[in-house]
Amino acid sequence: MKKILITGVSGLLGSNLAYCWRKRYDIFGIYNQHPWIFDGIRTKQADLADPQAVKALLKDFKPDVIIHAAASVDVDRCEEDPQWAWRGNVMMTKCLVDAVDSQTKFVYISTDLVYDGQRGGYVETDPVNLINVYATTKFAGEQAVVPLPNALIVRTNIFGWNVQDKTCFAERVIKEAKTKTINGFTDSFFSSLYTFDLAELLSAALEKDLKGIYHFASSTAVSRYDFADSLAQKLGYASGLIHASSMNGFPFKARRSPNLSLNIDKLQQALGSKIVTIENSIDHYVADYKNGVVLKLKGEVV
Ligand SMILES: NC(=O)c1ccc[n+]([C@@H]2O[C@H](COP(=O)([O-])OP(=O)(O)OC[C@H]3O[C@@H](n4cnc5c(N)ncnc54)[C@H](OP(=O)(O)O)[C@@H]3O)[C@@H](O)[C@H]2O)c1
Repeated sequence: MKKILITGVSGLLGSNLAYCWRKRYDIFGIYNQHPWIFDGIRTKQADLADPQAVKALLKDFKPDVIIHAAASVDVDRCEEDPQWAWRGNVMMTKCLVDAVDSQTKFVYISTDLVYDGQRGGYVETDPVNLINVYATTKFAGEQAVVPLPNALIVRTNIFGWNVQDKTCFAERVIKEAKTKTINGFTDSFFSSLYTFDLAELLSAALEKDLKGIYHFASSTAVSRYDFADSLAQKLGYASGLIHASSMNGFPFKARRSPNLSLNIDKLQQALGSKIVTIENSIDHYVADYKNGVVLKLKGEVV
């Protein structure tokens, strides 16, 4: 069984990957301030910006693969607190890169936000244009990983299940659309992917030993409005719950990109299999919701 170290195991992506892979790989998950305990998954506290702690972790566990999902992810907080952004997105990555040996596969989870979103349909060779602190620091993290001989850089956008007391956009639709106004931007496009679909693609990428930069996204793109509306419909909610609005004039602290649709041809060719559409990914999400996956992840049912 491959030994996989997942950083950010208490986060949305890390916990979802650990859950999907718990019977497939030997998982060791690292959290910092929010312990996540799950039957059958080993987890441990560490501050990944501490070089000594990182060295000790790798020495003890000797992973075959590191999935580096820990980061400073709140885009607006990054803008207000660039030091927090730098520590979480660059320093932590550098500590891991300095401690890892050349045999270990290093998977860096990056973001679609490295592009400025002026046109969409990006391919991996397109130039990046960093429009906010989050994007700048995530890209600096990518750059720290590039010299490693066995690195995979995953540019993605995700929705899934938080095990902490916070919600992603899709979870807000599930929880709040019936009682509160949810703004769905009609002028903001993405190719978001359900974390459980990402888990399958990433697992296939590990089997094929992919290296370099790849887009891990759904094969189609929609506006945030259409995403939320489709999700609400698939959940069987009354129609018209999502409020169509524009991101222009919305009081974000960090600049946002209008069109972050990603081209996934490179990944599709490398894996030799068709990648899901965003509608497929939403269907999968809704089916898992109805099957109680969120309660299982939170340890509320076994
Ligand atoms: N969420 C999205 O929409 C999205 C989109 C594109 C790309 N991404 C990328 O996907 C990855 C995962 O995102 P996410 O949404 O799962 O993030 P998240 O839910 O905010 O989780 C962040 C994780 O990082 C850990 N962490 C932060 N500082 C740490 C430190 N000093 N030492 C150890 N661990 C630390 C946190 O641990 P504690 O909470 O225990 O402190 C938490 O587990 C990130 O690289 C992000 O840039 C996310």
